[in-house]
Amino acid sequence: MAGTLLALLVLLGSSQVLKAKNFSHWKGEQQMYKLDIGWPKAPEYFTGQTFCVAVDSLHGLVYVGQRGDNVPKVLVFSEEGYFLHSWNDTVEMPHGIFVWNTETGSSVWLTDVGTGKYGHTVKQYSPLGKLLQVLGTPGNAGSSLIPLQFDQPADIFVEATGEIYVVDGDGGMNNRLLKLSDDYKELWLTGTNGSGIGQFKIPHSVTVDAFGRVWVADRGNKRIQVFDKVTGEWLGSWNGCFADDGPYSVRFTADYKYLIVAQLNINRLAILAAPPVGSIGDCAIVHSVQLADETKPHLVDVDMRSGAVYVAEIGAQQVQKYVPLS
Ligand SMILES: *[C@@H]1O[C@H](CO)[C@@H](O)[C@H](O)[C@H]1NC(C)=O
Ligand SMILES: *[C@@H]1O[C@H](CO)[C@@H](O)[C@H](O)[C@H]1NC(C)=O
Ligand SMILES: *[C@@H]1O[C@H](CO)[C@@H](O)[C@H](O)[C@H]1NC(C)=O
Repeated sequence: MAGTLLALLVLLGSSQVLKAKNFSHWKGEQQMYKLDIGWPKAPEYFTGQTFCVAVDSLHGLVYVGQRGDNVPKVLVFSEEGYFLHSWNDTVEMPHGIFVWNTETGSSVWLTDVGTGKYGHTVKQYSPLGKLLQVLGTPGNAGSSLIPLQFDQPADIFVEATGEIYVVDGDGGMNNRLLKLSDDYKELWLTGTNGSGIGQFKIPHSVTVDAFGRVWVADRGNKRIQVFDKVTGEWLGSWNGCFADDGPYSVRFTADYKYLIVAQLNINRLAILAAPPVGSIGDCAIVHSVQLADETKPHLVDVDMRSGAVYVAEIGAQQVQKYVPLS
């Protein structure tokens, strides 16, 4: 497919942002990733809109959340690309997905922006799809903390300790970042609707780095904001790199040297230098991957063992795997 060829390269380039569709830049540039055209083995399992992807690098599994009528909502593949199984039960409209591994086992968390009786929730499933936990008030959008309510929760990150970060949400009444304890009580909450410091317009994706910083793709404000994971205190903002399109995803590469940011409307993955511990400074896009028109990359995840990057593409209705070349 033509899109596949166009999507092949990540360039090791200058710190300049590469212009979309100008492929003359690419000649002679060193590649950082290459598309694995053999993943998955059987793409016909993508029968809906593929919104999200999460990698279980410990067990070599890849979970995909898709939407649509009469389609399985969660698909499970092996990292080699073999389809394993799927489930539908209690899932309406998956938005974000995350694999949580602990010493005692593994589970899958997903955010559900559906408006039916299972929607407005963040849910935990066993690897085979058994519902283990529901956060939020199913079927009721809201802003309450007791009982917990969400409105279109966008993404979730769970630490090894069981502490949970949720960005809420994807265009509903809330524009906030919450941290919950391992028994699902509020530890802190930050953010309101707006474009000021610490405010959000569609907080769309969340991740935590190794230095105690929480990264949020503040999509509507075209910036990434960073918070202290213990206190929720605002630490900084990257405003200068997303004028063409807001950031949809925040995920670190396996070595924590880069952030991978999907930009849906310009069909691009921007790869930004991740600052070391301390101040986040200014942003710099050091590589990019230009995908084909209408691919619409929405959320990504990284295999923290192999370094492979998986991209959930709503437009192309597929998940693609990029493998690092060195
Ligand atoms: C594409 O990039 C080349 C090399 O930098 C440049 O000479 C050319 O003007 C660019 N074309 C467009 C349409 O931006
Ligand atoms: C999910 O639902 C669709 C449509 O009802 C069905 O074709 C599919 O087999 C179901 N998948 C699972 C895993 O239940
Ligand atoms: C957020 O504020 C803007 C005005 O700044 C308003 O247009 C929008 O409806 C508000 N969104 C929510 C969810 O309250």
